[in-house]
Amino acid sequence: MDYHLKLDAPERVATDCLVLGSYLDRKFPPATAAVNEVLDGGLAKTAKRDHFEGKPGEILMINALGGFEGCRCDRILLVGLGKKDELDVAKYRKAVAAAAKALRESNVRQAASCLHEASISGREDDIRWHLRQTVELFESAVYRFTRLKTDPEEKPLRLSNVSFPVHKPQKEQAETGLREGEAIAYGMTLTRDLANLPGNICTPIYLAEEAERLHKLHPKLKVDSLDEAQLEQLGMGAFLSVSKGSRQPARFIILEYHGAPAKAKPIVLVGKGLTFDAGGISIKAAANMDEMKYDMCGGAAVFGVLAAVAKLALPLNVIGLVPASENLPDGNANKPGDIVHSMAGISIEILNTDAEGRLLLCDALTYAKRYEPAVVIDLATLTGACVVALGRHPSGLMGNQDALCEALIKAGHASWDRLWQLPIWDDYQEQLKSNFADLANIGGPDGGAITAGCFLSRFAKEFSWAHIDIAGPAWKTGQDKGATGRPVPLLMQYLIDQVQ
Ligand code: BES
Ligand code: MN
Ligand code: ZN
Repeated sequence: MDYHLKLDAPERVATDCLVLGSYLDRKFPPATAAVNEVLDGGLAKTAKRDHFEGKPGEILMINALGGFEGCRCDRILLVGLGKKDELDVAKYRKAVAAAAKALRESNVRQAASCLHEASISGREDDIRWHLRQTVELFESAVYRFTRLKTDPEEKPLRLSNVSFPVHKPQKEQAETGLREGEAIAYGMTLTRDLANLPGNICTPIYLAEEAERLHKLHPKLKVDSLDEAQLEQLGMGAFLSVSKGSRQPARFIILEYHGAPAKAKPIVLVGKGLTFDAGGISIKAAANMDEMKYDMCGGAAVFGVLAAVAKLALPLNVIGLVPASENLPDGNANKPGDIVHSMAGISIEILNTDAEGRLLLCDALTYAKRYEPAVVIDLATLTGACVVALGRHPSGLMGNQDALCEALIKAGHASWDRLWQLPIWDDYQEQLKSNFADLANIGGPDGGAITAGCFLSRFAKEFSWAHIDIAGPAWKTGQDKGATGRPVPLLMQYLIDQVQ
């Protein structure tokens, strides 16, 4: 979709549909009030007649055959924002998403939205944030994954053009917000598309080829992928042990973006890329096993972020590392009790072959060291235990440096792609003791998200590191099954914050 600014009063914007906010009991913010005035109070009257109250996310589409007198739009979409002093980010996002859905369903081709004037405490005049959020939400609301359906039931999207009437002094900030929103949405869409692809199409090799495609689209992204022989040479015994039970060869995919001078230490993102996780010999139960195609959502998010960073041309150095593999049962697969040697030289007893993500990530973390990173952040659908602990709203955050964790939590709030921190105290390390190797790959039933974090921490001692367990938010289960594109907004916000 095309997004742009209009330096014009809302009533002067010629459009198929003007989108206007309303607080509870039809209390109008400035643009809505101005339009209501031009229409001689007609907007308030119509809203009242149709019992529109202005609850968060409530909508009323008002059609005018032949247009409105004094206003250059064919329709007005009123969008409820709730009580003015209770408007928060969650309600605001609900309202914007409802507006986008209504526009999609009404088949309009263009729209002009004034929802960015809604006043949220802490964000009052932050037009940049408002437009970044709006574009992200509009793109998310119209996203569909239909490429594998012969006949998508739904009508194709007609909405192709959305403008935002802003005041002249807001122009620069608004422009920045639009561009950021577009890049974030682009990264999210890429992430969702990759994640929604099934395991028989999206294999490790497919991901490596996708990296090549990204390089062609964004020549500033340098990509490389290492095959199993090269991983062997590097000594990535933990990673390779997972892949040897699969007929699809593993790949270690490297994406490099250099937007800052070489001396600026890079931010390294590591994404778990299990293109399918059946659990291996410790095989999973059948119910919902299809969702384990989403076990590469961390890797997909790394692709999405790197592509978005390249599109925005951020002045940073960012490296993406995606260890990609399947985890399947096979005569050659890892067995419980097997001991493997990681690249770091730490031996690992595999007590459960379904705790495979950490076996890939530990070698990728060791590899990250060569970049002398400013920070390393890993993203992984690592544990079901994290979903049990936190549900599906936040991702779980663990790390070895307070400043990094705080910066990520702050970025989570700003992007509304939130994190909740879990402790990785030394006390938990006890649970990872093995009688036969340096480390066990599971820590028992207690605190499973945390012991997974503790396992990774053993391979992240030499740099500032954070681990984000995205098992809850990365995809939706049930009727709306599908990838969400998280944590791309969080990471983009974090990276944008590093520029300022
Ligand atoms: N990919 C899974 C984690 C997962 C499961 C995420 C379900 C989202 C939904 C991971 O590889 C895994 O299987 N973890 C095990 C660890 C256990 C064996 C210690 C888990 O969570 O059950
Ligand atoms: Mn597993
Ligand atoms: Zn897994």
